[in-house]
Amino acid sequence: MLIATNLSKKFVYKESKGLFKKKLIVKNAVNDVSLKIESGKIVGLIGVNGAGKTTTIKMLASLIKPTTGEILIDNLDIIKEHKKAKRIINLISGGERNIYWRLTAQENLEYFGALYGIPKDVLNQKIETILEMVGLTESKDIPVERYSKGMKQRLQIARGLINDPKYIFLDEPTLGLDINIAKELRSYIRKLADDENKGILLTTHYISEVEELCDYIYIISNGYIVAEGTPDELKEELSTKTQVVLTVEVLTEQAEVELKDILECKAEVTIEGENIHTIKVISKENFTAEIIRCLSSHNVSILNMKLMEPDLEEIVLNVLRRSE
Ligand SMILES: Nc1ncnc2c1ncn2[C@@H]1O[C@H](COP(=O)(O)OP(=O)(O)OP(=O)(O)O)[C@@H](O)[C@H]1O
Ligand SMILES: [Mg+2]
Repeated sequence: MLIATNLSKKFVYKESKGLFKKKLIVKNAVNDVSLKIESGKIVGLIGVNGAGKTTTIKMLASLIKPTTGEILIDNLDIIKEHKKAKRIINLISGGERNIYWRLTAQENLEYFGALYGIPKDVLNQKIETILEMVGLTESKDIPVERYSKGMKQRLQIARGLINDPKYIFLDEPTLGLDINIAKELRSYIRKLADDENKGILLTTHYISEVEELCDYIYIISNGYIVAEGTPDELKEELSTKTQVVLTVEVLTEQAEVELKDILECKAEVTIEGENIHTIKVISKENFTAEIIRCLSSHNVSILNMKLMEPDLEEIVLNVLRRSE
């Protein structure tokens, strides 16, 4: 288990003010962030541009030192022992950085493997397996500059796996990929967690990706974690509305009065139409069962019913709006 406790990062830098003046700027990019990543689980870190996601990931990946806080990976203090830590973690960023374009995939992986001090015969076997896994075996001897974006991204993943990390940090891994490759990559990320028991932290701006992949979510705003939970927990705790829309026949006045009575003060009810009525109920809780019971007891026939589930995107936006 990776446990980060009260992580903060303060950047201090000078900014030019006029020709000769320089102003000292202090930027608290991450404040008091605590999070956990279990093996075999995918954890999402989501927030708007500049919220502090990459800074957090860089601290976890031991690329920058936290101003305060502690990071333990399976009881290893990775701030004090970052050399040991680097053997069990790796960072994969979206975009096309971190690989050498003039080299082939094979050569890139040999180079990065050598940086980890992996013996040549072990490394060659490993490279073969990883290239197979990311589907680059056939193109392994082509210089990377001739690769498509998706192939380069797959090579990034391969590079991130070269040291067989226990924990992988993925910073916007599907950035700029077409829908097919992004889909393929998502299923691959899921496999890394399910089959290889990797603990994964993922940042992304695509909420559908979060819904599909994440077992647990942290929402970050201005460097602070403002909400956390499983997708279902967040939906349950933070959704502002559930919407039920029914199309019914023979809605008697009695049924209408009783329905409005039952839902009084709990939901917003609108009824439209003449012979066939449309009933719309918006509430925080789900009153579907009560609505059906009431209508059935008055022999109202329900022709159609739609339940609009709370939408994770809306929830995230609400949380962020509130935290502002
Ligand atoms: N090296 C640095 N020096 C000064 N400020 C920095 C540095 N790195 C990041 N920041 C600032 O810290 C804040 C958080 O940046 P960070 O890159 O972590 O955001 P992010 O959530 O990854 O955003 P994005 O979604 O755009 O990638 C921003 O205000 C950014 O300008
Ligand atoms: Mg970022």
